Amino acid sequence: MRTSWLACREEQVPAGTGWLSETERGHAARMRYTKRRADFLVSRLTLKLAVARVLGWPDDDATLARIESRPAADGAPELFVEGLHAGRGVSLTDRAGCAACLVADGPADVGCDLELVEARSDAFVRDYLTGPERDRVAAAPAVRDVAANLIWSAKESALKVLRTGLRRDTRSVEVNVDDLMPPEHTWSPLSVRAAEGTVFPGYWRRSGSFLLTACARGTFPPPSALDTVCVLDDAAPAHQWVSRPLA
Ligand SMILES: CC(C)(COP(=O)(O)OP(=O)(O)OC[C@H]1O[C@@H](n2cnc3c(N)ncnc32)[C@H](O)[C@@H]1OP(=O)(O)O)[C@@H](O)C(=O)NCCC(=O)NCCS
Repeated sequence: MRTSWLACREEQVPAGTGWLSETERGHAARMRYTKRRADFLVSRLTLKLAVARVLGWPDDDATLARIESRPAADGAPELFVEGLHAGRGVSLTDRAGCAACLVADGPADVGCDLELVEARSDAFVRDYLTGPERDRVAAAPAVRDVAANLIWSAKESALKVLRTGLRRDTRSVEVNVDDLMPPEHTWSPLSVRAAEGTVFPGYWRRSGSFLLTACARGTFPPPSALDTVCVLDDAAPAHQWVSRPLA
């Protein structure tokens, strides 16, 4: 199994709505909160552009409108192309005005999650992390927030692979990561072990204040970039993204 990934930011979202499917247009129109609509739109754009690139399609409005993520009953995104189930695993995530999408080359369970390196309280670490994960955070005081947010993100990615999301206890999946300070902008390995024994291999990547994790069921090579320059690598410091007023 191979995966590809792409990130976009809100500034890339087209002004018009011709690139959305009819269902997506209706959904966006019903969203009352600007931030939720902005998150929805940047996530849709990221998925559509990622899939168009994987398929070698152009990225004009009419083509993008034929690519759609539809939520399954459990909330997990299902990829539809021209109204037909595409038989490819996808995962979506957004944070602070940026979105990322992971696309598999077949019907695989995949998960990705984008987080900021932000302050996490001791209560957060105590309540949501397992004992060994808490020890890992405590043993890395110089990069405590990287460790805490990375572990949280990898859990979310694995919980997306499992399709439960946060319905499941975050302590029922345990993250293992060796190097907390690898070079930025490159994928480094991690793994997540579920309480029932399954191990989900994965990778993580840091871009300034952004952490992106990716997991799957079964081994896979690091995700391939669908862009030559990743917008996360190039993004302004995250606090500016968080506080920037949305249109
Ligand atoms: C999956 C979940 C952990 C992601 O939360 P998050 O960190 O706030 O959001 P992210 O931006 O990283 O990911 C959001 C994407 O996760 C995906 N997702 C949602 N439920 C999912 C599931 N059960 N399995 C896999 N992926 C899921 C969706 O694609 C969603 O984006 P979209 O709605 O725009 O298509 C969270 O939505 C969740 O736990 N959902 C299931 C439980 C639920 O519905 N609870 C109600 C709200 S608490």
